[in-house]
This record gives sequence, structure tokens and C-alpha cells, in this order.
Amino acid sequence: MRENVLLIGGGGREHAIARALEDSEALRASGSRAQSDDGEADLYACAGNRNPGIARIASEFETLETTNPKAVVEYAEEVDATIAVIGPEAPLEAGIADELEDAGIYAFGPKKEDARIETDKAFQRRFMREHDIPGCPAFETFDDMDAACEYIDEYDGDLVIKPAGLTGGKGVKVIGDQVTAEEGKEYIRDSDYDRIVLEERLIGEEVTVQAFVANGAFETAPAVQDHKRAYEGDEGPNTGGMGSYSDASDELPFMTEADYDEAVSIIEATVDALDDYRGILYGQFMLTSEGPKVIEFNARFGDPEAMNTLPVLETDFLDVLTAARDGDAPPALEFADKATVCKYAVPEGYPTNPEAGAKVQVSEESAGDALLYYASVDERDDGIYTTTSRSFALVGVADSIGEAEEIAENALAVAGEEGLHVRHDIGKADLVQRRIDHMNELRGE
Ligand code: AMP
Ligand code: GLY
Repeated sequence: MRENVLLIGGGGREHAIARALEDSEALRASGSRAQSDDGEADLYACAGNRNPGIARIASEFETLETTNPKAVVEYAEEVDATIAVIGPEAPLEAGIADELEDAGIYAFGPKKEDARIETDKAFQRRFMREHDIPGCPAFETFDDMDAACEYIDEYDGDLVIKPAGLTGGKGVKVIGDQVTAEEGKEYIRDSDYDRIVLEERLIGEEVTVQAFVANGAFETAPAVQDHKRAYEGDEGPNTGGMGSYSDASDELPFMTEADYDEAVSIIEATVDALDDYRGILYGQFMLTSEGPKVIEFNARFGDPEAMNTLPVLETDFLDVLTAARDGDAPPALEFADKATVCKYAVPEGYPTNPEAGAKVQVSEESAGDALLYYASVDERDDGIYTTTSRSFALVGVADSIGEAEEIAENALAVAGEEGLHVRHDIGKADLVQRRIDHMNELRGE
């Protein structure tokens, strides 16, 4: 059967998905396009912004509103899509998977109801409690903001304030870290959130474990550590993620095999509790002195984490998609024993006051040994321009984190950083050592 794959989304994560599909046997590029010579498979893409990296790989790129079900389904039908891959959370929340399914097109991505595991943090916590999923911090949900403020006054310890809905990773405030209790209450009163979660502040190191889920079965990828804070040394506001690294094994340098296995068992309990979930289940964990606890689940690949995971995936990604569509378990996944370091270049002022419109000078050729992933840039007739979101990422893949970091840095030096900001500390030996020391201290070693 001929497969027409439709990729939905135009960020760095989706560029990484496009690359993984380009590497797929049936889609192996003929010329500059991911189209098989024998016509077994073809790749189409759509997003709100024209991502030049994806546009180069796909045989067609359509600019459309990916949260508009009618527009997406129309385009999917126009290109005779047999499988759709949904990258970002917003189309999942908009029910794009449901609408595609109604039109008879398989979507690798959860339906709106299942995506609530990400899109509704109050639901997510109650779901964990109800199904006895291990690793759930103590929490309460509130729709009365005065009651929430009272709870903060009465609670013995630090709390984390989480708006229940999607905020692009930027709505969470950690009392005792980013804000004081007074500032936290002010934040709650000044924002117009309908519902919030207040939960126990977890102390430890953050790790991401992503699972490929289909037909009740799942396969996990090596752990990745993202860096949420905007500035070096983990200072400044939360962002969508400034960069990330993974090691040449499933674990990270501060993580034991037992920690990884425990994270996987939490994912297993979650997959079991979800009814026929499909797509990526992303677990973000706090590695505490008592083992991994769940910070959140996402219903999709992480961005940047997809750029750590997919370049080392040796299994044909199209085989994963067709197995899911055909009612099978995902194939056993093979990952190369390589470390990866990903660094995002973001517009100056991101995330609070980003300045769009800088011309992006980097190209896949000038990136040298590093992999270049375009993100929220816009390709116009006279060049590629930044928007107000993350611009592009450079990824080094090597035998060690140190070598991978150097590859990413060399490419950044060539790319230039005019109008851009980069966290150079990500993946550097100093910062990795700080993580190791932190975990050792927490474990009393
Ligand atoms: P989220 O949007 O849920 O990913 O949260 C953003 C960031 O807030 C996370 O990456 C953590 O750094 C922090 N965070 C969220 N929940 C907690 C928690 N329970 N304890 C400590 N930090 C947290
Ligand atoms: N890297 C965090 C996220 O994708 O939500």
C-alpha cells in the first residue's frame, strides 16, 4: 500500500520528525524530496509558519491554521493522506486527531479526550490519583482563587502554582524558587485563570522519558534533560525549553538504571490506565531522593527533546506509524549508543518580550557536523526570519556529551547570534557536574 504521510506542525520538533521520516526506507529522498522512487510513500506537511527545513524535505508544504479541523482535514484529503502525525499540543487540544479519524485518516496522536493528560493539569493529577499511578505529588485543585490563596497561607512547605490549561510551559510558578508565597498569591489574583492546581514542590533533577504508544503497548526512548529556564545557570523565566542533552545510554549521568526503570514503570501504569492511547506519551519526572515523581505528562514529543531522540532512533519511524495504524504494537526500538546535545537559538527578549524579524543566517551546510533544525521561523522570498518563538536548534551527536556539546557550539559560532539568545551552558561539563553533585547531595552520598 502506498503511504501518504501528513506531518502537522512547523517547529523544531516537527523538523526532527520530518528528518526521521526522510530517513525511512520507503521515503528515502529522491533528489531533495522525501519521496520514494518506487512510489511507496510520500511526505506532506502543514503548519501555520513555513518551516524551511520541513518544506525542503516534504513534497508539499501548506501554510494553514493547524488548530482548524476543517482546514487540516481538507488538506489531508487533498493529498490522500493515509497517516497523519501531529507534532504540537494545540492541534491535539483542538481535536484534530478526532476529526481526521472521522474522515477515515489514521492520526498518530491522541484524541482530544486522551490529550487531556497534557491539556488539563487538574484532570491529569486526578487521573493519577484515581488510577493509583505511582509518583504523584500531593495536590489540590481550585476554581476559587481566594480559597487557593488561603491554602497557600495554611500549607506547611512550598507549593507549585499551575494553571490547569495550556500555557506553553510558561504559566507555572514555583514558590520558594521563582516566587515568594506573597508573590505567588499576587500572581493568582492578578491572572484570570479559571482553575489552578496547587501541588507539593518536588526537589531534584528533571528528566524526560518519552514513550511511543500504540494498541496498548509502548516502547521508551533514552532519558533526556531539558533546560526550561531562559538564562544560564537556570535563572530567569520558564520557557518552552532552551536546550537538552542525552547520554550514550538510556540514563543520564546523574540517573541510575533503577531510576530509569521506575520512570518506565510509571509510564506503564499510565498507558494501562489510559484507554487505547496512541501517539507519544511524554513523561517529565523529578528525580527526587525517593525516586522519580511526575511533574507532568505531555501528549506528544518534547520540543527540544524530539531533537535528541529522533536523530539516534535507528528503527524506521514509518514502520512505527504503520504498525500503530495496523493495530500492532510498536516495533522494538533501537537507538544508537550516542550522546546528543541540543541548543536553541531564541529571539532576544524571549520569552517575556521577544523581538521578531531578525534574519536567520544559518543553513544546513554551514551547520557543519551539527544537525540544524528550524523552528518558529518564517521563510519569505528574501530570506528566513525569526518570529516571537524559538528560532532554530543545533544538535551535536557524538560518543560523549562533551563531544556532542562541542559540535553544537562550533555550529553556533558559525551561525552567529545577532538578535538571538543561546544558553551556552547546556551540556557543558560544569553544568552536568552540578546536576551530579545535586543528586549526590539529595541522596546523602
Ligand atoms: P510544567 O509546565 O508542568 O512542565 O512546569 C514547568 C516547570 O515548573 C517544570 O519544568 C519544573 O521546573 C517546574 N515544576 C512543575 N511542577 C513542579 C513541582 N511539583 N515541583 C517542582 N517544580 C515543578
Ligand atoms: N520540553 C518541554 C516540552 O516539550 O513541553
